[in-house]
Amino acid sequence: MVNVKILPDKEHASEEVAQMLHDLIVEKPNAVIGVATGSTPEGAYERLAEKIQEQHTDVSQLQFFALDEYIGLPWEHPESYHSVIARTVTEPLGVDPSQVHVPEAPDDATEGSINYYDEKITAAGGIDLQLLGIGRNGHIGFNEPGTPFDSPTHIAQLTELTREDNSRFFEGGIDEVPQLAVTQGIGTILQSRKAVLMAFGEAKADAIRDSLAVPSSEERPGSLLQHHQNCILYLDEAAAAKIDR
Ligand code: GLP
Repeated sequence: MVNVKILPDKEHASEEVAQMLHDLIVEKPNAVIGVATGSTPEGAYERLAEKIQEQHTDVSQLQFFALDEYIGLPWEHPESYHSVIARTVTEPLGVDPSQVHVPEAPDDATEGSINYYDEKITAAGGIDLQLLGIGRNGHIGFNEPGTPFDSPTHIAQLTELTREDNSRFFEGGIDEVPQLAVTQGIGTILQSRKAVLMAFGEAKADAIRDSLAVPSSEERPGSLLQHHQNCILYLDEAAAAKIDR
């Protein structure tokens, strides 16, 4: 069952998601939170950081797991997801870097060498709340169309559309955007106890419509949400515009 919340704008949605995260942290100080990159969750992270500061919330026992990481970018590159998560999550929330996990994605990564990530999530007790964004082609994490719904953390080949969309973050444009990444699989994401997907703006309207279209299909990764035990979509009006209400 997918629950859909349509808010007037991104600011209202970010505030609601931040409040939900803060409530979880207060209720379960050792919660395990899955974090996404991209511009979509940035407002929620900022609002959450404010709440933590204002209310002196204990964050010392939390654990965070990022969804994905590019293969072929050094950690210190400003657009590696190690850097992005440090900048948007670890530092503003005031958590120790040892509490925050991002998949290792060395140039010579193999499927065998990245299995450890799912094991680490399981050892941490599993993800209580997984934040998600969505790409224009419906990709989730870096699970591109065609990824099996039972996939574990794996190596993904990025589509040209995804590389084009993400090139806005790179000074050198699309040539600088890696071709490969390590991503939590759809199977990994489906094991989270709650999934919260945010999508804002008209560019996401097709992907949201396709995610909700029945039946689900591996060609539409967002439709994984239809198989999730507890999932909420937070949309603005523009991203919700093509949903059959
Ligand atoms: C990247 C990330 C995804 C994210 C997507 C959308 O490809 N790997 O996790 O959902 O971008 O990004 P944005 O929120 O900037 O639209």
